Amino acid sequence: MNGLRILGTGRCLPASVVTNDDMSLRVDTSDEWIASRTGIRERRFCREETGVQLAAEAARRAMEQAGITADQVGLCVVATFTPDYLTPSTACLVQQALGLPRDIPAFDLNAACSGFVYGLAVIRGMLSSLTRPYALLIGAEVLSRVLDFTDRSTCVLFGDGAGAAVLARDEGRLLAIRLGADGQREPLYCPGPGRGESLLRMDGRAVFRFAVEAVPRCIGELLADTGLTLDQVDAVVCHQANARIISHVIRQLKADPAKFYLNVHKYGNTSAASIPIALDEMAEEGRLRPGMKVLCVGFGAGYTWGGALLEW
Ligand code: UT7
Repeated sequence: MNGLRILGTGRCLPASVVTNDDMSLRVDTSDEWIASRTGIRERRFCREETGVQLAAEAARRAMEQAGITADQVGLCVVATFTPDYLTPSTACLVQQALGLPRDIPAFDLNAACSGFVYGLAVIRGMLSSLTRPYALLIGAEVLSRVLDFTDRSTCVLFGDGAGAAVLARDEGRLLAIRLGADGQREPLYCPGPGRGESLLRMDGRAVFRFAVEAVPRCIGELLADTGLTLDQVDAVVCHQANARIISHVIRQLKADPAKFYLNVHKYGNTSAASIPIALDEMAEEGRLRPGMKVLCVGFGAGYTWGGALLEW
């Protein structure tokens, strides 16, 4: 299969830290409830920052880490379902902010929390036809804009942020990729303009049941596709929605918990941004070294799901 490689990563989180105690001033909740049900301790909410600013800054850091310049970027894709504007896309506004070339494709992609993995698949398909060598893939969300701060069962779970990766064509480095969707509106949706209040609605229990079935299945498919065992995978980066979902997955797969990265306690669920933010933190902490096998798996509204097994 056509391969790709992640050359650099970056992240950008809003400055404002909102703790569980801060949330308990807005809704009837507690640090004890949120932390014990989800593992979340705090999240970031945009005050001054826009989604475009977060996305552009995450991408700028990824380009810096990869050692590439704006004129070498041949494609810009932003995975988001909370763009600043329905049109133009966040990707076009990032293109402007970073001074990317004018004759390259730039577009947003909405696969909810699976967006980053969907983006890997889309970019893999496009890399060979680009006029410049590198692609930017950014996951960026301003979820605080669509939270109902009277609904304690959802507003405590989410946060804002952006993560980015610079991708290059590289045969053999993307070992397997699996995407799926199961079209249904319930139980997780956010109406668009003209469809009533544009606020996120979720039946948390239903999403939990879906996640603990879909994530192990997707991991199993990637392992079957590559003939690898989980022992041969060095790191697993699950979409960071809830630490309990990740614990379930670990138990079901009888896996080594140390392989599963966890940062949901700091940022809550940042949807399409959660996997690239995690990858960037892992890279910074020296947990990702060349040749390592890294498995990313996302799930979210749609339902959508997606997994990718990469060689770092
Ligand atoms: O990207 C994908 C996005 N979504 C997810 O991954 C969400 C997956 N689901 C979950 O993470 C969990 O279902 C939740 C964390 C959302 C909820 O946990 P739960 O254990 O399923 O709780 P529940 O919804 O069954 O609610 C239990 C109780 C209820 O009270 P009663 O009816 O038992 O008296 C809720 O009203 O907890 C109450 N509750 C809260 N209490 C304090 C719900 N939210 C809160 C809250 N603080 N924030």
